[in-house]
Amino acid sequence: MNQKRTIMDLLRAKQEGHKIVAVSCYDYTTAQLVAQADVDVILVGDSAAQIVLGHDTTLPATMDFMILMTRAVRKGAPQVCLVADMPFLSYQLGVSDAIRNAGRFVVEAGAQIIKIEVTSSYESVVRAVSDAGISVMAHIGIRPQSILKAGRLKADGTTAEIASELIELAERMVDAGAGSLLVEGTAAEVAAMITERVEVPVISCGSGAGCDGQVLIAPDILGLTQGEKPKFSQSFGALAEATIDAFQAYSRSIRDCTYPDAHHSYHMKAGELERLQAFLEARH
Ligand code: KIV
Repeated sequence: MNQKRTIMDLLRAKQEGHKIVAVSCYDYTTAQLVAQADVDVILVGDSAAQIVLGHDTTLPATMDFMILMTRAVRKGAPQVCLVADMPFLSYQLGVSDAIRNAGRFVVEAGAQIIKIEVTSSYESVVRAVSDAGISVMAHIGIRPQSILKAGRLKADGTTAEIASELIELAERMVDAGAGSLLVEGTAAEVAAMITERVEVPVISCGSGAGCDGQVLIAPDILGLTQGEKPKFSQSFGALAEATIDAFQAYSRSIRDCTYPDAHHSYHMKAGELERLQAFLEARH
């Protein structure tokens, strides 16, 4: 029987130079499919606010919404290493809130790692959650929860000054107890330097090939998302077209009365139709 993958497996992968494969997904059915591929980590990302709920930003994701999805994903993929994303306002209000909410993901949803978008102001939060016995993934680089201050999301670490701040931030987070890092939308050279300098596994989301692993969101991997996508996003399937085709075929078969056929319908037991007709006639 396959053993559940843990942070220690991710650490071993880094040490042995094996790439870590992560997928961001939000529901039971997709998680079941991901679990049948060679994937180490599922992240239940707050990008669900955009992908599942249709918001413009990740900000409206709530703890209850994230817990519900994380629990569903855990049911679909019991053996993967499960990372849950701390949504906006779940850790910004202080350390005790952060520990309580991180703990909810562990106790109520079976998460093994808690991801927190960090600046240097969140060092105490990372330390406190880690000291509480919860493995923390510190998310640096592009931080979508800061969209209102940033105005728009743009590549990070593209100048020497900013790159050196980012490297320092990564090291401070590891010193504070982060057991892994996620580097989003950062210059590939800088993400590779961070990966070399820290002992914990570093997952890239659009930060080049030099990290210990990669994550993309499931709908992008499947080619389900339509419209503009970030530069780093790549589809490995074309399921939007296949999905529209399937809905079209369904619609056609209803309109031309080929669905449902007798094979896809329930039927009365032998002789029961005649008995029913007799009942009905007797009533008149
Ligand atoms: O919310 C999310 O899915 C994420 C990944 C894209 C890194 O944070």
